[in-house]
Amino acid sequence: MPKTIMAANWKMNMTNSEAKAFIKEFKEKVEGLDNGVQIVICAPFTALAKLAKKTRETNIAIGAENMYFEEKGAYTGEISAAMLVDIGVQYVILGHSERRTIFGESDELINKKVKQALNTGLTPIICVGENLEERKADKVADIVCNQVRAAFAGLTSDEAAKCVVAYEPIWAIGTGEVATPEQANEACGMVRSTLSELYGAEMAENATIQYGGSMNGSNAAELVAREHINGGLIGGAALKVDEFTKMIESVK
Ligand code: PGA
Repeated sequence: MPKTIMAANWKMNMTNSEAKAFIKEFKEKVEGLDNGVQIVICAPFTALAKLAKKTRETNIAIGAENMYFEEKGAYTGEISAAMLVDIGVQYVILGHSERRTIFGESDELINKKVKQALNTGLTPIICVGENLEERKADKVADIVCNQVRAAFAGLTSDEAAKCVVAYEPIWAIGTGEVATPEQANEACGMVRSTLSELYGAEMAENATIQYGGSMNGSNAAELVAREHINGGLIGGAALKVDEFTKMIESVK
């Protein structure tokens, strides 16, 4: 059985003081919540140390939104996996469509980051998904399967089993337009069958595959109830304590 993971992706939101206020309130709300859901908050680098400290020994794990693949050295402005692990970060979002499109991240770069994250003990949340043009041209399966193959290239099955995949159709991100549960389930199913081809049925059956794209308190339960959807990667709606809490409570 895959673990259900509800992960916030704060993006470039929340100053340190805002993050501090959020986590204080959020911790109280989800404390003792026992529905088997792993809660993750992926936040800007500047807030990570504080968040990790404040959530130690709670049911909340902390993630970064990016990292660089090199171990250390002359890479001005970059953050390494070891720096993240050292401050108590456990997850890292890799290959988000905003990184791919705005910052030009290639499949090859994302693959290198996935490998380094795993080598250092971080759990990668690997994002894949098509844009509207590609969906209209009936290319969802091609795009999603190719992105999964590229991100997992060269990983052993033990390594692959540690990864989380988030299917995020670009046309649904931050737009208020949500994939229907059928569309989301179908694409998450494509991710699962690609993993099955690569690593066998057992690995694929246990893989956590999230949906992301305008998920909120009103649609989370219906989406996550589908066979291939094991949680969500949530942007806008995860910036509000009550809304994010409601989403976590509504899924099993
Ligand atoms: P959204 O973002 O929930 O605001 O659509 C999701 C994401 O980009 O991960």
